[in-house]
Amino acid sequence: MDISYDISEKLIKDNTDTDFFARNICVYSQISSTNTMAKQNCDMPDGTLFVADSQTNGRGRLGREWISPHGKDIFMSILLKPKIPIDKTAQITLAAGLGVCRALSEFCGIKAKIKWPNDIVTGTKKLCGIITELSFDKNGESYVVVGIGINVNSEKFDDLIKDKATSLKNATGTHYNRYEIISKVMTEIERYYKLFIENGFAAFRDEYKKMCANIGKDVVIIKDKQSVQGFCDDISQNGELIVIINGEKVTVQSGEVSVRGLYGYI
Ligand code: BTN
Repeated sequence: MDISYDISEKLIKDNTDTDFFARNICVYSQISSTNTMAKQNCDMPDGTLFVADSQTNGRGRLGREWISPHGKDIFMSILLKPKIPIDKTAQITLAAGLGVCRALSEFCGIKAKIKWPNDIVTGTKKLCGIITELSFDKNGESYVVVGIGINVNSEKFDDLIKDKATSLKNATGTHYNRYEIISKVMTEIERYYKLFIENGFAAFRDEYKKMCANIGKDVVIIKDKQSVQGFCDDISQNGELIVIINGEKVTVQSGEVSVRGLYGYI
């Protein structure tokens, strides 16, 4: 299977205006998962981008599968080597989510929002998912892999997800060159990532809150098959969701939690 023209390394590189994100790029036709590939190549430079035309074992959050058909959508992972305390790693996800949200809104002219912590949605449906994984290399140095799946040109979805998934094509009627979306997303994520490294989540907390679809809405928090209902009030200084449950403010961390709207996905 050949690599589709619109994700060639040269096209991505030539169109990406960044300091270190996607300055080194590895493109594959079909692999199990770009996150796995990034981990197997964690000695590559900070900001290396791994892109695949399709994945046979794409992974989502909470052990879910990420269906990854050939030639239509974006499956990519960024290898990052931040020098930050390990407990701040989850906040990189928020920077990535905001970057993707900005990039898709501006480039495609859609109203994209963030479903905390890092699903990108338009209307009531999901356009993009992000998974951030912390690992250690053979010398014990930590690194982070941010995996991003964006539904770009797919028009039909598996029965399991068709009620909650959409694509840029479905949302706008336009077919997109994937390298253009990748380039825009890299530029925006690098911007927020740098802000985060320099000044922490506080540097873009207000902007994140403006783009967050959950704030001011009733939500259901699901953990270990147990669910509890509350009202989403705020995002904390550390990027946690603040939910009022039975009159009390509860801080929810992203880890193993799934958040839903009261009447549907958002
Ligand atoms: C989620 O919403 O659950 C996160 C989905 C993340 C999917 C992407 S596709 C590229 C990268 N490789 C993977 O195996 N997963 C991420």
